[in-house]
Amino acid sequence: MQIVNSQISIEKTSHSRIKEQDINNTPFGKVFSDHMLVATYANNSWQEVKITPYGNISIRPSLSVLHYGQAVFEGLKAYKNYQGKPVLFRLEANYKRINNSAFRLCMPSIPKEIFIDGLKELIRLDTDWIPTKSDSALYIRPIYFATDESVGLKPANSYKFIILSSPTGTFYSAPVKLIVTDKYVRASEGGTGAAKCAGNYAGSFLADKEAKEQGYDNVLWLDGKEKKYIEECGTMNVAFVINDVLITPKLTGSILGGITRDSALTLFRDMGVKVEERLISIDEVAKAYEAGNISEAFGMGTAATIAHISVINYQGKDMILPPVDERKYASQVLQKLEDIKTGKVTDPYGWICQL
Ligand code: COI
Repeated sequence: MQIVNSQISIEKTSHSRIKEQDINNTPFGKVFSDHMLVATYANNSWQEVKITPYGNISIRPSLSVLHYGQAVFEGLKAYKNYQGKPVLFRLEANYKRINNSAFRLCMPSIPKEIFIDGLKELIRLDTDWIPTKSDSALYIRPIYFATDESVGLKPANSYKFIILSSPTGTFYSAPVKLIVTDKYVRASEGGTGAAKCAGNYAGSFLADKEAKEQGYDNVLWLDGKEKKYIEECGTMNVAFVINDVLITPKLTGSILGGITRDSALTLFRDMGVKVEERLISIDEVAKAYEAGNISEAFGMGTAATIAHISVINYQGKDMILPPVDERKYASQVLQKLEDIKTGKVTDPYGWICQL
């Protein structure tokens, strides 16, 4: 056992599983790398932090997160740059966001030494698990959850913070078909929509299941109050190009503040594209579609990166958007992101973190 940073102990696996995997061709979230980081919070402080072989954790049925869902998570990616060196994308932004999510769920904040230094140490150890194929990455999933052995209804006193990682290719294998629902809502003003908490995702499953049964990939959510304004689609933020203006729902408090969203908007602005972050109603989109003024729609997310949207169903009618090869905005920004991540162009934003 090796101790690093006087905080993190490392126990390396005696049997790497990497040779058993084709890491450039694995479906999203099914294969996990050799190691994980586990940190424990108890007695009002962070206790031990260890990197161990990826494996089981032991829990009891009274574990509080199983009852009240006090759990938040993150998603970020590690890439190999054009020189074959490992890099992380916007690690600091994920660090900030997990602590915002934790605050909303009444959980103690995670120190930088654990999230940032621990994550870097873990990925350094599992660098060989970073795929090299162009649309692939090592998807890193930090999770943070309540571990009191109690069904008492209150914020827990003890927590686990775990980081695992998984080689992955594209999340969506084809342009995405969305359906607008007014039957369910994802989030409302004052709720947890802006936090990356586990319950937001479980709460979407039924609507997503019904969407899939109707032949769509995901739901396009509307605001919880008027069911009028477009929010996001759960797996990603969304944007529309109408009359050459890029319009994306503003962060009202019920939408996740996507890091890919922020990166894409920054790049668009720097490319001279007119960007509007504002309320956009589904009726505005439908009218623009009828008038032939929508040239593209796309999603932005860590797992999904930039995903073209091909169809939006609203009130039983499919809006079929222009073919992908006629679109210029999303593909251009995706390429710019790729170039920054792989180091083909210099990163003027400080998004890339070398390992
Ligand atoms: C991510 O993009 O990192 C997410 O957590 C979304 C999830 C649908 C995989």
